[in-house]
Amino acid sequence: MTTFESRVRETTREEIVDPAEAEDFLRQFHAEEPAAREQNLRSRIEEARAEIGETGGYRHTSAELAFGARVAWRNSARCIGRLYWRGLRVRDRRNVTEAADIAAECVTHLRAATHGGKIRSVITVFAPDTAAGPGPRIWNEQLIRYAAYPTRDDFVCGDRRSLAFTELVRALGWNPPAQRGPFDVLPLAIGRGRDRPELFDLPGDAVLEVPLIHPDFGWFAEFGLRWHAVPAISNMCLEIGGVRYPAAPFNGWYMGTEVGARNLADVDRYDLLPSIAHGMGLSTESERTLWRDRALVELTLAVQHSFDVAGVTMTDHHTESKRFLTHLEREENAGRRCPADWSWIVPPVSGSQTPVFHRYYDEPDDSLRPAFLPPDR
Ligand code: ARG
Repeated sequence: MTTFESRVRETTREEIVDPAEAEDFLRQFHAEEPAAREQNLRSRIEEARAEIGETGGYRHTSAELAFGARVAWRNSARCIGRLYWRGLRVRDRRNVTEAADIAAECVTHLRAATHGGKIRSVITVFAPDTAAGPGPRIWNEQLIRYAAYPTRDDFVCGDRRSLAFTELVRALGWNPPAQRGPFDVLPLAIGRGRDRPELFDLPGDAVLEVPLIHPDFGWFAEFGLRWHAVPAISNMCLEIGGVRYPAAPFNGWYMGTEVGARNLADVDRYDLLPSIAHGMGLSTESERTLWRDRALVELTLAVQHSFDVAGVTMTDHHTESKRFLTHLEREENAGRRCPADWSWIVPPVSGSQTPVFHRYYDEPDDSLRPAFLPPDR
């Protein structure tokens, strides 16, 4: 079995904040936020520069932090749901640094985001990296993900995407449930910087899940499929004005295609299309029967229907595509560029039937800040 240490890539990083980045951000905050106009920009910049000179970093006000987190979302070129960027709820937990306390705050985050099924967009921001040392880090890709177990003959039980992470937490001492299944929720792995993380199980009542049924196919329920209500990305680093917050989990609500046309359908995920096609009585002998396409639509429909029946927020790709164009228009009216990644924005089913397919966008710009940065940058 792989040891934890053998998996950790050594990196060194400059933890001193660049004063020019701090200034750029403070200017942007001042220009965009009406509330900030009260504040004297010049003295705020002086203050931040002095603090950086003394400590290597500076502390954002709560208003700066909230604005920075919302703009990081607005700058996310892969996200089709950005119309709601102003509505992000920001939980300022910069004073929380211990793994156990972070785990408890993640649980509170999930409860607040789940909100009985009326999902709300939430971010919880933990301590930043500082000159004195790295901030905390959540090793999970999302707060809620399902384990994967290799079984005999190359078969995998669970979400193949989680194979490496499941192996990691098992090397760290996690024991899968006695009765292993395809939808076992993984524990949180939380540590400081690149130190060995500690593991924390999520309490069952913090993880709302939806059993999947199909509106017309009675047999569909017998597959025993389910999916969790809240997608909460937990391994991206939030960077605001030169300050890096490596632990800043954030969530929105699902669009049906993410689950139905990717997570459950992709060959390197749950690979369920052959089973669905079989249930539908389709021949899978030849690609030319379009059995994949037909099964894909029914699976996506089942996901959306099930979330509706369960009263859990989920959008669909037609609605969200239109809303994204509204967002583009608003950004344009505000005089801002809105970079977007076509291959991520266009939904994985019926692309041409959504308006986002029929145009191009401002090129994604890696230097745009504030931003959510990919892990292991
Ligand atoms: N596509 C990812 C998943 O299926 C979630 C990405 C974020 N999605 C969202 N609707 N906010 O788990």
